[in-house]
Amino acid sequence: WATSAHTPEDFLQCLTLHAGNSTTSISQVIYTPANSSYSSVLEFSIQNLRFSTPATPKPLVIITPLHVSQIQATIKCSQKHGMQIRVRSGGHDYEGLSYVSFVPFVIIDLINLRSINVDVENGTAWVEAGAIIGEVYYRIAEKSRNFGFPAGVCPTMGVGGHFSGEGYGTMLCKYGLAADNIVDAQMIDVKGRILDRESMGEDLFWAIRGGGGASFGVIVAWKIKLVHVPSTVTVFTVNRNLEQNATKLVHRWQYVVDKLDEDLFIRVILSAANSSQKGRRTIQASFNSLYLGGIDNLLSLMQESFPELGLVREDCTKMSWIESTLYFAGFPSGESLDVLLSRTPLTRQTFFKAKSDYVMEPIPEVGLEGIWERFYQKEAEEAELILSPYGGRMSEISESAIPFPHRVGNIYKIQHLVYWEEEGIAASERHISWIRRLYSYIAAYVSKSPRAAYINYRDLNIGTNSKEGNTSYRRAGIWGTKYFKSNFNRLVHVKSMVDPTNFFRNEQSIPALSSW
Ligand code: FDA
Repeated sequence: WATSAHTPEDFLQCLTLHAGNSTTSISQVIYTPANSSYSSVLEFSIQNLRFSTPATPKPLVIITPLHVSQIQATIKCSQKHGMQIRVRSGGHDYEGLSYVSFVPFVIIDLINLRSINVDVENGTAWVEAGAIIGEVYYRIAEKSRNFGFPAGVCPTMGVGGHFSGEGYGTMLCKYGLAADNIVDAQMIDVKGRILDRESMGEDLFWAIRGGGGASFGVIVAWKIKLVHVPSTVTVFTVNRNLEQNATKLVHRWQYVVDKLDEDLFIRVILSAANSSQKGRRTIQASFNSLYLGGIDNLLSLMQESFPELGLVREDCTKMSWIESTLYFAGFPSGESLDVLLSRTPLTRQTFFKAKSDYVMEPIPEVGLEGIWERFYQKEAEEAELILSPYGGRMSEISESAIPFPHRVGNIYKIQHLVYWEEEGIAASERHISWIRRLYSYIAAYVSKSPRAAYINYRDLNIGTNSKEGNTSYRRAGIWGTKYFKSNFNRLVHVKSMVDPTNFFRNEQSIPALSSW
């Protein structure tokens, strides 16, 4: 800021001047460090404490618009006064890109733009970007128990980031990703124009469904296509440790999981828990499943395709689809559906680092044993690998239908996660170094050239633009092809058309052609 000729006051004056159309005065939705609620507004939705330390750069202003004209004014005034914009919907970005920048910046926090209109007759809904996914599920179920939506498991994620970064959950084998089920959108571009699918054109509409919204503008709302769910579904979680054959079961799971009936989703969560015997850690594989049907059918399907797990009737619970969203979010049975409306983070906020991988050939048992060895290391006290199955609908959709390219040929995706409680750089470095070592070890068993990654599990270690967000096509291609493979080129083409001066930029934004 010190190097700029502009001051925050100039910026605020500009906002007042340009946000005149709204019935609410913009001053009611502006927070500067002088406001007593600035810190609570900033910190409220931060998930990863790595980006909430005294050293983390803070925004000069936070705007929580009630009206699109206030977003338009913010875009205009940020350009005029040399500010960058960070757009935040649910704040779940793994690397804090929605609320941290190393150049003078403002946050547009969409928390107030979160209305949801469900149209059961047409099987669609308009959802404002600041809504959380739990609210979306709740409002759909309120209108009909036979509709649902195939998005993620954590109810507090914002749909602005989640859908523009693709978004998946327990119904991906049946219906694909959240972004596969978007039929229209409303966004504001760099010129401050309000665009819908027709006026933005098919290229830009393609790009924002998974290419990361932050590179292209501010998404205000999505129109989604609802999907059919049966009146009752079945869930189970079967835990097995190494003494209970976990290695062989995980090994076998890899051979069946992408060929299962598309109504059946079984993911595996691998973790290391401290056992009651002092100093010993137990490796656990948790088989966690949703079946879009009844218990009898599920048992016969499991008998046919994965009898080794030994699933029995007592492991299974019948419930409605909406109750299953609570089950997967970790709520105890009998919890009121109203918890889906709460934006308060479910789990305690903690420090964490995540990475992702795609598996195209089963990992041999000896490879799995090498993972267990790393789970016994000190830093892995709170670590997990989440293995999410592909196949079904995911293999039918073409690699270029939307920017997400990881379709046919992938058996499952791995999310690597490590959490820690201890503050400070040393603790952070130790845990990040552990996950990087695990990532190097797994390299032999996962996709190569490129080693693919999932954009919603943002990972700045796979490559970045400069801290100021300036970049070159070549530099951005390092991380861009991991997330998007050859779709990266089309994203660059769209970016060059809609934001040629690269105004909307961050450490992993799509570059414009002028920066080649
Ligand atoms: P946030 O507001 O932090 O935004 C993320 C990115 O999108 C930023 O770059 C931001 O600028 C941009 N953005 C946000 N709103 C925008 C808008 N309106 N217009 C333009 N750009 C916008 N993923 C998944 O697929 N399935 C899952 O089950 C889970 N589960 C999960 C659990 C937990 C606890 C966390 C922390 C994360 C996940 N995720 C996930 C990852 C999640 O999908 C990812 O972090 C999303 O980007 C979160 O979207 P938010 O809007 O909450 O993030």
